[in-house]
Amino acid sequence: MGGSRLFTIKLSMKTLKMQGSIACGIDFGTSNTTVAIAHGNDDQIILVPLEEEHLTIPSTIFFPAESPTAVFGRKAINAHVAQDEGRFMRSFKRVLGTSLMKEGTHISGRKTKFEHIIGHFIEDIKSKSESLADREIQNVVAGRPVHFVDGNDQADKEAESQLEAIFASAGFKNIRFQYEPIAAAFAHELTMGDTERLAVVMDIGGGTSDFTIMRLSGRYINKLDRQQDILANAGIRIGGNDFDRALSLKCFMPLLGLGSLWGAKGLGFPITPFFDLSELSKIQYMYTQKYKRDLKELVSQSNDKALTHRLLSIVEEEQGHTLMAAVEEAKIQLSSSEQTTADLSFIEADLQADIERTQFEDSLYGNIESIQKTINDCITVAGVKADDVALVILTGGGTAIPLIQKITRRIFPQAEISDGNRLSSVGFGLACDARRYYLEG
Ligand SMILES: Nc1ncnc2c1ncn2[C@@H]1O[C@H](COP(=O)(O)OP(=O)(O)OP(=O)(O)O)[C@@H](O)[C@H]1O
Ligand SMILES: [Mg+2]
Repeated sequence: MGGSRLFTIKLSMKTLKMQGSIACGIDFGTSNTTVAIAHGNDDQIILVPLEEEHLTIPSTIFFPAESPTAVFGRKAINAHVAQDEGRFMRSFKRVLGTSLMKEGTHISGRKTKFEHIIGHFIEDIKSKSESLADREIQNVVAGRPVHFVDGNDQADKEAESQLEAIFASAGFKNIRFQYEPIAAAFAHELTMGDTERLAVVMDIGGGTSDFTIMRLSGRYINKLDRQQDILANAGIRIGGNDFDRALSLKCFMPLLGLGSLWGAKGLGFPITPFFDLSELSKIQYMYTQKYKRDLKELVSQSNDKALTHRLLSIVEEEQGHTLMAAVEEAKIQLSSSEQTTADLSFIEADLQADIERTQFEDSLYGNIESIQKTINDCITVAGVKADDVALVILTGGGTAIPLIQKITRRIFPQAEISDGNRLSSVGFGLACDARRYYLEG
C-alpha cells in the first residue's frame, strides 16, 4: 500500500510495544487470510506477518493423525504434499451457512464440528497477531462477502452469526463485520487526493465475487458514517475454486477418462467421480473404503483402462488435493502466459497436460456470464451509468485473469483501473475501519 497520506505500514517480525487501545481487521478468506492492526497512539496500520515473513497465510489446516496439534497455512500444505498421515482441509469458509456446519466431519476418527475447525484457524492467527502486538486484541472488524450463500437470506444471516460465534470463542470481545469490497475501497481511499470519484470495487477471491459501487475521496478517511456514499453492493458465490473446477473438467479429467466409454454396450463412463475430483469439498469423501471399492468395480468395466486407471490410482493414493493444486497452478500460469504445461508425473511417469489460455477461457463461460450479470445488477441498483464510473479497484486473486480484466475494461470503458494490492487490501482496509470504529474520538 504505497503513497498513504495518513498511515505508514511498518513491517516487523519483532514484537511491537503498542500502548493504548488496539483493534484489528481480519480478512478470513476462502484461500488466504490477512490481519492488520491499528492502534490508538499513531496512524500506523500494520499488516501482521502470519507465517514467517509472509503477510498472508493460506486458509488451510492439517490435523496430523498421530498428534493433537494442528498445523496451518503453508505448513499444512507441505505436510499434505509430503503425504503425512492426517487430514488436510482447505476452503472451510465455504461451509459457513451450509448444512455441513451442523453435520461436521470426521477427523482422526472423531466427529468434529466445523466451528472448531475454523475456530482453530482463527485462534492461531489471533495469537500470532497478539504476539506481534505484545498484548491481547479484543476489537475486530471481520470481513465478510456480500453473500456467503446465494439467494438465501436466512442462511446468509446464519453464516455471519456462526462466524461471529467463532470469533467470540477465540476471545474477541467486540466484533463487527464489513463487506470485503468496502474494506478494499477504504484501503484505496488512503492513496487518493481530495476529489470525489465514483468507484467500483471488484473483489474476485477463491470463493466469492463481490462488488461495491461507492463514492470515494481522500477527504473521507475519517468519516464514520459512509452509508450515503455506498450506492450498491452485490455478490455471487463464484470464485477461483469454481474456475479451478472448470479448468479441471475441461483439461485434466479427459486425461483420466472423462468422455471415455464403459461397459459392454459402450456407454459413457459415469461422470460423477470426475466432478467429485474437481470439487474441493468433495475430494475427502472419495477416500472412504466404499467409494474406492465402487470405483474399482466401475473401472474394471472401463473400455479405456489406460486412462481410467489413472483416476483409480489418484483416489486410491489419495492425491486429489495434489491434482487440484496442479490445476490451480496451471490457472495462475495462464494469467501471465498463453500456454502452460502441468507436470502430472505424480500420477504416471512423463504424464503432463498441455493447456492453452483459450481453453481455460472457454471453460469459464458460464461463470463469467454470472459474474457479468452480478456487476450489471450492481450498476442498476446503484442507479448510475457504467460510463459515470471513474475508478475501478480490482482486488482478490481472480482479478489477475486477463479475461476478467478484458471484460472489466469493456464494461467500464471510461474508468481508470487500479489493481495495486490484490492480496492484502481487504485486510488493510478492515483495519482502517476498525481504527475508525474502535479508536477514534
Ligand atoms: N495470478 C493469478 N491468476 C489467476 N488466479 C489467481 C492468481 N493468483 C491467485 N489466484 C486465485 O485467486 C484465488 C485466491 O484469491 P484471494 O486470496 O483473493 O481469495 P480469498 O480472499 O481467500 O477468497 P474469498 O475472498 O472469496 O473468501 C485462488 O483461487 C487463486 O488460485
Ligand atoms: Mg477475499
